[in-house]
Amino acid sequence: MKVSVSPGHNINGTLILPLFEGSEAVPESLEAGLHNSLKGQINRILDDGDFKAKLKSTMSIIGGEGGKAMLVGLGKEADCDIHAYRKAGAAVIANRKKAHGTELTARFSTASIEEMGAFAEGMLLRDYSYDHYKQQDKDDEEADIDVRINCNDEQEAGLSPLIKIHAGVASGVHLSRDLGNCPPNDMYPEAFADQAWEWAKQFDNVEVTIINYAQAVKAGMGGLVAVGMGSERKPCMVIFELNRDKKGRGPMLVGKGITFDTGGISLKPGANMDEMKYDMGGSATVFGTMQALASTGYSGKVSAITCMAENMPSSNAQRPGDVIKTLSGKTIEVLNTDAEGRLVLSDGLWKAGEFDPEYIIDFATLTGACVVALGHEATGLWSNDDDFRTRIHEAGNAVDELAWPMPLLPAFEKEMTDSKIADTRNLGAGRWGGANTAAAFLKQFVPNRNYEKDGEQIPWAHMDIAGTYWGAKTNSMVGHGATGIHVRTIYHLITQG
Ligand code: BES
Ligand code: ZN
Ligand code: ZN
Repeated sequence: MKVSVSPGHNINGTLILPLFEGSEAVPESLEAGLHNSLKGQINRILDDGDFKAKLKSTMSIIGGEGGKAMLVGLGKEADCDIHAYRKAGAAVIANRKKAHGTELTARFSTASIEEMGAFAEGMLLRDYSYDHYKQQDKDDEEADIDVRINCNDEQEAGLSPLIKIHAGVASGVHLSRDLGNCPPNDMYPEAFADQAWEWAKQFDNVEVTIINYAQAVKAGMGGLVAVGMGSERKPCMVIFELNRDKKGRGPMLVGKGITFDTGGISLKPGANMDEMKYDMGGSATVFGTMQALASTGYSGKVSAITCMAENMPSSNAQRPGDVIKTLSGKTIEVLNTDAEGRLVLSDGLWKAGEFDPEYIIDFATLTGACVVALGHEATGLWSNDDDFRTRIHEAGNAVDELAWPMPLLPAFEKEMTDSKIADTRNLGAGRWGGANTAAAFLKQFVPNRNYEKDGEQIPWAHMDIAGTYWGAKTNSMVGHGATGIHVRTIYHLITQG
């Protein structure tokens, strides 16, 4: 999709007309250049009360002599914030049919620059489909959607750069979705690493380093190795660095990248196992966020680590009962090979300390228990620092991606460190509080500043996206499949939070 800003009154293609509830006629300020017959038609519809302008509703007018239009509901004017504008923009694309054509012109009566920007953002985010694996029918092929936003001269100067940023961030969200939707026969650890390597070439301020299987074994990454060794497609770690030469500390993002989670020897039941291709959603969030930052020209330092592995049962897979030694030196009693995300993250989190980051945030489709707790409506959010947790929660609210505070209690830490034979265990004592015990386990691998023995732990947050990365039917920014959640949250946190 191309979105441009154009002062003036030219209507190119289908007119997109966002309206508040209770609108009885086309607002006078929007009449310029509007064909009388189309105006009459719209006014009749509104006067008869046939379009109520409820948020996210649309009505199309096609076939009249005055051109095509789509009316878009913004809901009640008093409640209409940027989130409503974003949703209304997304609804336009969700309801657009071939007959509307690919040229659209949106025109607002009272919207601010931020509100018009949010409307464009919603259109950009929703303009996504994953059809690389379908043979295209020539007749169905369409050109890219070309959107113009009519505004006045003063607004143009503010709106144009804002839309550029939204387009860059949306490209990060779309990259995350592409990675998450990719079938697991094509998305395996090395394929992800290769894609990151190729991607980095377009930026001279981005470095990608790949720690391959042999190097991971040599370095002592026992968590990553144990999870990935049962697969023909061996595990690896991918390190992203943006503006690495900048002085001072920067954020560090860590992602769980299980390209397929069968459960390993603790095999999962068959139903819906195909969905476990999205168990690399955390790594996709990280890669997508780096794309959002790099493509919008962010000039600060940001680093990221993704822990890539395929969790397979085989004769060289790890077993329940194994004790493994992680990069941190701590040992883990593996009681269930399906609790593998925490094993690969143990090495990713510890490795993060080498970068002396300002803070660490990990993203992981970590537990079914988190989906039980929060459904598809909110990400679980844990942190060793209350203020930091609040900042992330607020960054999520600012972009309408809910991350809900969850407790990191000493009792959960105790539960995960009382193995009879190792420093930690990868399974709680029972199944209760499974998302919390997983978070408490991860905390054991968050390094202290400069790895000092009695130092303070680096501020860290854990985001369990098992429910929000996939299957979120109420997320109106996406049709189906991978959502690309939290690229926008973290972009906001890093650039404005
Ligand atoms: N990848 C799963 C978690 C998951 C479940 C993500 C459903 C998305 C949807 C994870 O590796 C896993 O299997 N976790 C186990 C942990 C248990 C064995 C302690 C779970 O949640 O059942
Ligand atoms: Zn698992
Ligand atoms: Zn998993």
